[in-house]
Amino acid sequence: MTGVWQSKTTAQVHPYQKVWQDAQKVNWQVHDLINPTRCLDFTKPFLPESLVRTEDIECLNPSEQLTLNHIRGCSYLHLFVLVEQFIIPMVLEQVKRLGFDDIFATQALLGFAEEEGKHIHLFQEFATAFEAGFGYPCDRMESTAAMAAKILEHHPLSVLLLTLQFEWTTQSHYLESVRNNDEEDLDLCFCDLLRCHWLEEAQHTKLDTLLAYDLAARLGTDVVELAIEDYLKLVHLLHDALMEQVNLDLVNLERAVDRRFTDSERQEILEVQQQAYRWTFLCSGLTHSNFIRVLGEISPSGKAKVIELAKGWS
Ligand SMILES: [Fe+2]
Ligand SMILES: [Fe+2]
Repeated sequence: MTGVWQSKTTAQVHPYQKVWQDAQKVNWQVHDLINPTRCLDFTKPFLPESLVRTEDIECLNPSEQLTLNHIRGCSYLHLFVLVEQFIIPMVLEQVKRLGFDDIFATQALLGFAEEEGKHIHLFQEFATAFEAGFGYPCDRMESTAAMAAKILEHHPLSVLLLTLQFEWTTQSHYLESVRNNDEEDLDLCFCDLLRCHWLEEAQHTKLDTLLAYDLAARLGTDVVELAIEDYLKLVHLLHDALMEQVNLDLVNLERAVDRRFTDSERQEILEVQQQAYRWTFLCSGLTHSNFIRVLGEISPSGKAKVIELAKGWS
């Protein structure tokens, strides 16, 4: 009797309910990851080499490469605060759009927004710990709130696709570069940050996918194609902001290592870092097979444009 009941409920489980139930199983708190007795270790890299590519820069000695790795860690925190800041209003808009008839969708989406709020707190706490330990202020791109507001002016489907792209980006950052990485002795706090972010983002990818299919199905093909064009504008907007951060990272590096780089050294650092930023924050999500699959189902032409764009940046 119990077996029949269990198999029936499993078969009937609602997609939003399933995600919400899975989300309940993940339970970590910010203060478990960073606190006065659990600090950043500045003798170790914060981010894996595949994401920062500081060791590819020949004009930097190992100590300077490590300093740039730390600066990249600071920029990572800042960039993800920006990402979370546009995701929360986007999700709340979707809650309003769906109405409250489907209580499982409401619960799952409000849980999603709450988790992104926790992630902002997480990144901000790490940023505070960074500032305390690094010893130098780091210049960062314009106000994240202003940038998030600019992104939210775009079509809801385009913001949703940008969100989905970043959710898959965080999956790739942990799974491909940190988990099972036995070659690098990374700072444990940053490893935990990436692991815990991955755990909750895994549910977000499912929710974004449900939302994207639902929203696209309610829009006409012409509107979907316009939203795809708008999404590509957002990708370029992010790209410009990232390139600005590359320049700021160089200023921060010169200040931290107390060295004025020659023109050729600057060129080498900028070229390597521009490529590293494009891969880490754009192409790793744009080329992710699950993102491409969803995009292709919504808009085959949009999928082709994204693949072409990523190819140009690789
Ligand atoms: Fe997040
Ligand atoms: Fe997320």
